[in-house]
Amino acid sequence: MLRAAGLTKTVVSGDAPLTILDGVTFDIAPGDSVAIVGASGSGKTTLLGLLAGLDQPSEGEVWVDGQALSGLDEDARAAMRQRLLGFVFQSFQLLPALTALENVMLPLELAGADDATAKAREWLTRVGLAKRTTHYPKQLSGGEQQRVAIARAFAGDPKLLMADEPTGNLDGATGAEIAELMFRLNHEHGTTLVLVTHDTALASRCTRRLSLAAGRLVADEATH
Ligand SMILES: Nc1ncnc2c1ncn2[C@@H]1O[C@H](COP(=O)(O)OP(=O)(O)OP(=O)(O)O)[C@@H](O)[C@H]1O
Ligand SMILES: [Mg+2]
Repeated sequence: MLRAAGLTKTVVSGDAPLTILDGVTFDIAPGDSVAIVGASGSGKTTLLGLLAGLDQPSEGEVWVDGQALSGLDEDARAAMRQRLLGFVFQSFQLLPALTALENVMLPLELAGADDATAKAREWLTRVGLAKRTTHYPKQLSGGEQQRVAIARAFAGDPKLLMADEPTGNLDGATGAEIAELMFRLNHEHGTTLVLVTHDTALASRCTRRLSLAAGRLVADEATH
């Protein structure tokens, strides 16, 4: 489903180049649930950006569903994301001019769903936001915005769901509900999960754990 080979990311900050990811290689099979863990600054978000094709590696290659991302231009990568991928990032990236409902509807409409409104309402209800559909992002709390982003990521029934700290800004009970939704998708639809998390309870529910330290993959373990 997802393969990374020799992924390296070097950035120039100040006058010295800085390697923030260094030769990261792994394979994720369809239906896997994978936690990416590591200290703050170890390169988790950078790695997720490369896997989603939002950023390009300095060296190495990513294959999503058998397709090498380096062979795709920006438009083709966007089309790939729309077809296969749901993602929730640390910055929620909701569109500020759209209501919660419209934010969730947008990818459904782009995919040509004829029941976009009903599906978007259903997902907002599942994340506990049935009463917030007409709110704009700035009228929502951080955790509520995160839940809208999660509803939007889930609504398209993606084959691959990538999330950066999906429960990070949520209280324990809400975070547990979001985790429940993700693992239900994993079990019932075979959705492959790739979750960056500091939450050990969430990580322990995944079948695999990839550990990063200072940009290197230091462990790749089956957890059950
Ligand atoms: N565009 C950039 N330019 C320079 N340095 C960067 C850039 N992007 C990331 N970094 C650095 O690369 C390192 C890895 O960043 P990254 O955001 O991937 O860490 P992380 O593991 O997600 O951390 P956190 O748990 O705090 O979210 C950090 O030291 C960060 O300062
Ligand atoms: Mg991060």
